Amino acid sequence: MRDFLVAGNWKMNGSAAASAELTDGILAGMPQSDAVHLLICPPYPYLGELAQKLAGTALSLGAQNVSQHESGAYTGEVSAGMLREIGCEYVIVGHSERRAMMGESSEIVAAKFMAVLSEGLKPILCVGESLEEREAEQTAAVIDAQLNAVLDAAGAESFETAVIAYEPVWAIGTGRTASPEQAQDVHSHIRAALASRSEKMASAIQILYGGSVKGDNAVGLFTMPDIDGGLIGGASLKAADFLAIAAAAASLV
Ligand code: 13P
Repeated sequence: MRDFLVAGNWKMNGSAAASAELTDGILAGMPQSDAVHLLICPPYPYLGELAQKLAGTALSLGAQNVSQHESGAYTGEVSAGMLREIGCEYVIVGHSERRAMMGESSEIVAAKFMAVLSEGLKPILCVGESLEEREAEQTAAVIDAQLNAVLDAAGAESFETAVIAYEPVWAIGTGRTASPEQAQDVHSHIRAALASRSEKMASAIQILYGGSVKGDNAVGLFTMPDIDGGLIGGASLKAADFLAIAAAAASLV
């Protein structure tokens, strides 16, 4: 059985004081299970300080974005090497907010995925369809295109340390969660797509669900055979809410 990963994507929220307090709150209530891993992805400016706080704890640190470039004249960008140096273990790539608002194409996402791997960090590759795409029954085609862009560029073997997050755009921040069955359908599709390239990668990879996950719907989602945890937005901003989701995972191991 695969371990659970419960990851908090804080997005552009908080302050130095609030992020320290939130982290302390999470550290105080970590589930006592080796099979449930917790990860926080705070905004860039807080990563350095939080890395020091997390040293020697079981709570992992990740970034929400990265440049696809190694170094150079890219004003405002942050490289994977910088994130590694500061103490990050994971990096989210291809979040739908970045795809939609910052114009990140699947090719750029693939380049970011490889930049993360080149520094020995673990990419969390986000995929997901919009409401229009779901209603037009294009969900599988959209997911395939997003996934194949990375598989073609990086190869299936590169998924060994990667995580995939299925985040239907219509469920993000809307309070409208995919039902466990809807999510499971897409998760099993993703695992099958990966299996067509590498059975080994497909059976081992953690596929997270993201989109209005809360303490009271997490058990239903995490019970599904191909859902290995969650990528949590709003409910990751309060320690009690995030820990309730972690506890839901811990209740299933
Ligand atoms: P919400 O949990 O707020 O819906 O956000 C999900 C998300 O986008 C996590 O990356």
